[in-house]
Parts: sequence; C-alpha cells; structure tokens
Amino acid sequence: MIQSNNIIKTIGEKMILRGMNLEIASGETVAIIGPNGAGKSTWLKITAGLLKPTEGSLLIDEEPLKKDKYELQQIIGYLGHQSFLYEHFSPVENLRFFAKLYHVKKPDKRIDDLIEEVGLTFFKYEPVRSFSRGMIQRLAIARAILHDPKILLLDEPHTGLDQQAVDILNKVILRLKKKGVTVVLVTHDFPQVIKTCDRVIILKNGRVKDDIPLEGQDVNWLYTHYERQAIHS
Ligand SMILES: Nc1ncnc2c1ncn2[C@@H]1O[C@H](COP(=O)(O)OP(=O)(O)O)[C@@H](O)[C@H]1O
Ligand SMILES: [Mg+2]
Repeated sequence: MIQSNNIIKTIGEKMILRGMNLEIASGETVAIIGPNGAGKSTWLKITAGLLKPTEGSLLIDEEPLKKDKYELQQIIGYLGHQSFLYEHFSPVENLRFFAKLYHVKKPDKRIDDLIEEVGLTFFKYEPVRSFSRGMIQRLAIARAILHDPKILLLDEPHTGLDQQAVDILNKVILRLKKKGVTVVLVTHDFPQVIKTCDRVIILKNGRVKDDIPLEGQDVNWLYTHYERQAIHS
C-alpha cells in the first residue's frame, strides 16, 4: 500500500504540493490526471524516492521510504521523462547493464522475453541511438519492469507512442495488474486510463481534487467529469 500523508513540497518560494493525501492499495491500477503544473510529476518522484517531501510522509506498506536506496530500487519501477538508457548500447546491452545494477538473477531469458514483449526483438542488437522516440520508450518500459518491481510508477508513458506501442504498453500494464503489481500512471491519455485503470485521481494546484472509481465508466464520462472538476471549478 502507498500512503501519501499530507505531503507538502516547496521548491524555492514555490509551493508545488499543498497537502497531498492519497492511499493506493496493493494491486490497484490508478491514474493521476490534472492540468499542467498541478504537481503530478513531483508527487510521483516523491513516491519513487527521488525527491524528499518538505513536510508530510510517504509510506509504503506502512513504512517510510527506506533510506537504503538499494532496497527502494528493488520494490519500485519508475519511468519518468528521461529514459536512462545508454545510446551507444543495444537493447540487450542496456538491459544487461540494468540487470546487474538491480541484481536480477538469470537475466538472459528475462531480457529476451521483455524485449519480445515490447516488440523490439528485430532490433535487439542495434544501438539505441538509431531508435525513434517510440522505440526508446518501449525499451524504457522494459527497463522499468526488468527487476520485477511490486510498484510501477509511470509518468506519461503513452506520450509519443504509436497505436501499436500504446497497445503493447497497455498489455504490459494489464499483465502486471493480473500479477498484483500496483501501477500508478500519470497521464493525459483518457482512453488508456479507461482501458487500464481501476480508479482515477484528479490533481489540481498540488492537492487531490477528486478520487473516483472507474468501474462501468466510459471515456466520454471521464472527459465530461474532468472538465467539470479540473477546469470549471
Ligand atoms: N525543480 C523545480 N524547480 C522549480 N519549480 C519546479 C521544479 N519542479 C517542478 N516545478 C514547478 O512545480 C509545478 C508542478 O510541476 P510538475 O510536478 O512537473 O507538474 P505536472 O507534472 O502536474 O505538470 C510546476 O509549476 C513546475 O514549474
Ligand atoms: Mg508532469
């Protein structure tokens, strides 16, 4: 379980998060939506242990984020705006490098399977520098889940992907969901929210504005609801 208890984040003079309260149960797939600048990425980075809250706390399974980075890295998969990939390396070389970093046991089969899952088998020995943005994003997704994290945090993962890659990513999310992985998705892509998520959180001005289950809702409902909550109020 992820618990965000009254998290405040200020950077310089600016208060980015203004008391962020949220609970996400193990195994839930949750979307975080909201206008640009609402604080979505900042909150996700705090949850990934990459930023510290100014006030409040972030608990995972009732414990504060471990200072021990190693332990934290094992539990969490994070995909932000940077891919963290080495452009002179191929997909196989990149994933081997991260497998070592995360102490993944018997990595070769896992690397092969993941490269296949994200549809890069044909390019597995090609250097990443020749890849399109969509191909890099596919590999970055494989990188984020390589060590089998129990919490996966994705910041706008569908952005810039073509339809085929969007479908691949959704399949990955749904597979992990079946396995009981907790998935938190910051996104502007409402159709993908409807396809993959159990619940949606609307963030506005550094606070939770609304928190709603998605069961039985369709994308038109989400657009209308979002407009009412995030734009007109
Ligand atoms: N390192 C930083 N220094 C100063 N301001 C920042 C920094 N990171 C984010 N911000 C500001 O905080 C606000 C929220 O940013 P962010 O969390 O990226 O929003 P979102 O992901 O919802 O678009 C924005 O106004 C942004 O400019
Ligand atoms: Mg953002």
